[in-house]
Amino acid sequence: MNKIIYLDAAASALKTDALIAAEVDFLRYKYANAGRGICARVTAVDDMVAQTRTDVAAFINAAADENIVFTGGATDAMNRIARLIDSSLGTDKTIMVSDLDHHSARLPFECICGSRGGNIVLCPLDTENNLDYSNLPYADVFVITAMSNVFGMPQDVARLVAAARKKNPDVITVVDAAQYVVHEKIDVQQWDCDFMCFSAHKIGGDTGLGIMYMKNPERWVLPDKFGGGMVAKINGGETAHNREIQWEPVPAKFEAGTLPLTQIAGLGVAIKQWSPRAGADVMRHIRQGLERMPRVQIYTAPDAAVATFSVEGMHVLDFGALCGARGLCMRVGNMCASWAVRRLGAPAGGVARLSAGPWNTIADADRALEIISEVIK
Ligand SMILES: Cc1ncc(COP(=O)(O)O)c(C=O)c1O
Repeated sequence: MNKIIYLDAAASALKTDALIAAEVDFLRYKYANAGRGICARVTAVDDMVAQTRTDVAAFINAAADENIVFTGGATDAMNRIARLIDSSLGTDKTIMVSDLDHHSARLPFECICGSRGGNIVLCPLDTENNLDYSNLPYADVFVITAMSNVFGMPQDVARLVAAARKKNPDVITVVDAAQYVVHEKIDVQQWDCDFMCFSAHKIGGDTGLGIMYMKNPERWVLPDKFGGGMVAKINGGETAHNREIQWEPVPAKFEAGTLPLTQIAGLGVAIKQWSPRAGADVMRHIRQGLERMPRVQIYTAPDAAVATFSVEGMHVLDFGALCGARGLCMRVGNMCASWAVRRLGAPAGGVARLSAGPWNTIADADRALEIISEVIK
């Protein structure tokens, strides 16, 4: 059987033994629900959740633990942010998105404009497909993809936020850092954004868990989700019309229902182990190899975090299937970022993408290049 060469870090990171051990340890010896009791086991789980929140706050340089909300992932966070913003803005809002956006960053905002009114404007891109802060249109909301999963280049989020504020001091800035977090250190205070999100699974944590950073959680009076764990008190009458609900203080106010506790137990370990740019050497090697191959067109910059390419005369799904059958695991298609892929002028069907993580070696890169040569010859 072929050894699997996993070069799909941008889709999801492989899990270390330490991560798996931490989750098994929690499930086997420490499991209880959080915030729902006063026995020692429950308070230990509460402490674990609080510690992970502190670890996340330090990881992204948030001012306080209360700025960190656990969600179901980056997609869940983006949809929640769109709903929160929608409930506070009128119907004539202007939302700026860009062609770098993943579907999960742009579609929630396009949909709130579609259903409740509002305009979508596009953030201009420069000749290298980076977000161009020199010429931003006015916006009430600005969705910023800190790193595209197709182009793999870090964007200057701090300057983009500052430039958008010059046009509108009240602009709400929302940063999708799902790819950026894999390769670069996040500093939300330096960015000065209103919201930021990422998924735990891309940095070696588990699926089903994401982070939503809120700069001013108190600003959002009504939560976007309702359920257990977020209600402090219900005062008044028996019906919805004559009672008043007091929410728990933030961040509990935004964490309705049981949290993904096992994944939270793993995230603290993942954060400690994660090192940005861990796959950079392997990516350089892959890039050099791809450049030598006939019929391969590379779309990404030499120092990009991912290598996005197509093969002349071959449908990308055939290419992906033939490579996959030989053990090379990579992403092919529209990358859930149709607008970015369209900008490449790639053949129908999309592109292929190789992305390395800390588990990859130069030998993996050589084997991947060998497989690609074999398939395209
Ligand atoms: C740039 C970007 N944003 C958002 C997402 C969505 O992340 P998730 O599927 O973990 O919610 C991804 C996932 O690939 C991504 O690359």
